[in-house]
Amino acid sequence: MKITIKRYCKHRTPLPSVDVTYDLPLEEPTLLEALTYIKTEIDSTLTFGSGCRSEVCGSCAVKVNGKEQLSCGYKVQDADEIEALSYIEIIKDLVVDADQSFMALIKTRAFLDNKSNKTQSKENEKFIEKQSDCILCNSCFSSCPVLEVNKNFLGPFALTRVYRYVSDERNNDAKEKIDLIQKDGIWDCTLCGECTTACPQGIDPKMDIMQLRSKSGVYGYMDPNFASGGFDGGLSF
Ligand code: SF4
Ligand code: SF4
Ligand code: FES
Repeated sequence: MKITIKRYCKHRTPLPSVDVTYDLPLEEPTLLEALTYIKTEIDSTLTFGSGCRSEVCGSCAVKVNGKEQLSCGYKVQDADEIEALSYIEIIKDLVVDADQSFMALIKTRAFLDNKSNKTQSKENEKFIEKQSDCILCNSCFSSCPVLEVNKNFLGPFALTRVYRYVSDERNNDAKEKIDLIQKDGIWDCTLCGECTTACPQGIDPKMDIMQLRSKSGVYGYMDPNFASGGFDGGLSF
């Protein structure tokens, strides 16, 4: 079995990226097992992320044949092509600078920072259970075409987290959080659904963004495309 890895090193000349093909004497390995074999038996300089080895920590996501996968959960196929996630700066080979995309969580205050004295009910806990399962693997971020044209776009997982916290009945600052996602946020999303397809946890960021649009309406916001007259709903005046 052969796999090709796009190796990256910013100091490599003349180009920082080079495709390297490896022959693996392994039977049905996961991608993480294959990467570990290459590192221990062929080339110790190969750099990749891993942690839990059981699809819960989110640190091993890469692209396989153009689609995001968790290395520890993906079974390698002959001729697979492996590369780092998109739209996040590559540190080396398959490791990206996740701090960059995680900044969106700070920008959107996607956490419980203004907690009331309320106790969360079981029903509310259940309601936001799916969004709480996010393992911050960055797969949705890498799959989102908006980031190709707008690097300031907050991205799917941060918006999903905002939805999780504005829906949390202990939260006291829903309006402030909704204010923070108007620019480079919910209205920039094209609702293409790529993030939903990419998510290994079965989270649906596209649906959460639609819910946030609806909640924004409650606070007086509307789609700027409508507000600016850029869309007339098919009517002529
Ligand atoms: S649905 Fe929106 S957030 Fe998700 S990938 Fe498409 S444009 Fe990006
Ligand atoms: S929403 Fe899904 S794909 Fe996106 S970071 Fe969380 S777990 Fe990963
Ligand atoms: S090593 Fe933790 S998700 Fe793959």
